[in-house]
Amino acid sequence: MKNKILVTGGTGYIGSHIVVELQNSGFAVVIADNLCNSKKEIVIQIEKITGVKPDFELVDLKDSGATLQLFEKHKDLSGVIHFAAYKAVGESMEFPLIYYHNNLFSLINTLQAMLKHNINNFVFSSSCTVYGDPDSLPVDEKAVVKPPISPYGNTKQISEEIISDTINTSSLQSISLRYFNPVGAHSSGLIGELPLGVPNNLVPFITQTAIGKRDVLKVFGNDYPTPDGTCIRDYIHVEDLAKAHVAAVERMIGQKQKENCEIFNLGTGAGNSVLEVIKTFEKTSGVKLRYQFADRRPGDIPEVWADTSLANNVLGWKARKNLDDMMRSAWIWEQNLAKGKIF
Ligand code: NAD
Ligand code: UD1
Repeated sequence: MKNKILVTGGTGYIGSHIVVELQNSGFAVVIADNLCNSKKEIVIQIEKITGVKPDFELVDLKDSGATLQLFEKHKDLSGVIHFAAYKAVGESMEFPLIYYHNNLFSLINTLQAMLKHNINNFVFSSSCTVYGDPDSLPVDEKAVVKPPISPYGNTKQISEEIISDTINTSSLQSISLRYFNPVGAHSSGLIGELPLGVPNNLVPFITQTAIGKRDVLKVFGNDYPTPDGTCIRDYIHVEDLAKAHVAAVERMIGQKQKENCEIFNLGTGAGNSVLEVIKTFEKTSGVKLRYQFADRRPGDIPEVWADTSLANNVLGWKARKNLDDMMRSAWIWEQNLAKGKIF
């Protein structure tokens, strides 16, 4: 019998790639999503890639009753990977209560239902945002968690605390994965990021500018204390990220955890500047990008990249794909969307 994993937010950008990787690794998957930021058609796209249609449950995890019903229906779960959340930093500054409500209630309801049904393996999507502007680089998991800049960032910090408190009083065990900057799309070109409205993040803004949906990319700041003056981030291919989740689930199911609450950075361990990302995009796509320098974006830190040795040594996972792969796949995905090949 296959181990069955519940993936909340599984039709979303990162979740859909993890569902593919889980199914390709022999897991059965149930997706729970309310489609507030994704489309049901993603389930068909996943089936095209893997040959297996994952179970899909339309559930709003803010609704405790509906969440309990979901777990009543799927009593045989080996674990849960929790992606369901809102993620736009700027929007969270404008509507903090909506962010706290969705991100925290969804987590609490999921954990409560897990405890009720004695499902003990939990993987959580956290973010390098918890490190704020780190005191030293590369940043490792022991670095101090800094006061959050946004309500979104605060929901990740509070979520990690809620998980830790729950573990202290139950048989739950968890792995929190702190993502650096996930980008790119699946190598099939069949799933990728689907930003609603104007993208906030760099890579979808680049590909939408290249395809002609946006006039010009604004590079936020060229006077940072970095070699070319633009910010540095640790961009990681979403397919590499997916493999780390499978490693985390296998570690939990195989009862190999040393502690009940483990945390791993997921990045490549190297940083690239905004200008390097643009140059790499131009090189791999053959498209000249329209961009101009603009003011710094409030809340941006100059540079951050990960120390990934813990994930490398303990999870036995390492990011393999480089910035060329990230840009190439993101561009193929954008073109497939534009050609109407996806929806
Ligand atoms: P996404 O918006 O593409 O996916 C999130 C999914 O969750 C969507 O399909 C949405 O419909 C669903 N969802 C949201 N609220 C829900 C609710 N109440 N009930 C059921 N479903 C709900 O986002 P993503 O980029 O795939 O991010 C996934 C997770 O990873 C999020 O928790 C996000 O905070 C975290 N994360 C993302 C990044 C990034 O750069 N994308 C970085 C760090 C952490
Ligand atoms: C942002 C969030 C972070 C979140 C992550 C994933 C902030 C401060 N941080 O990370 O909490 O986990 O997204 O959702 O919002 N850039 C431009 N022009 C653009 C867009 C971005 O120059 O149009 C630059 C930014 O200044 C930054 C880099 O590109 O230096 C990456 O930006 P982005 O993709 O938004 O990610 P982060 O800001 O690192």
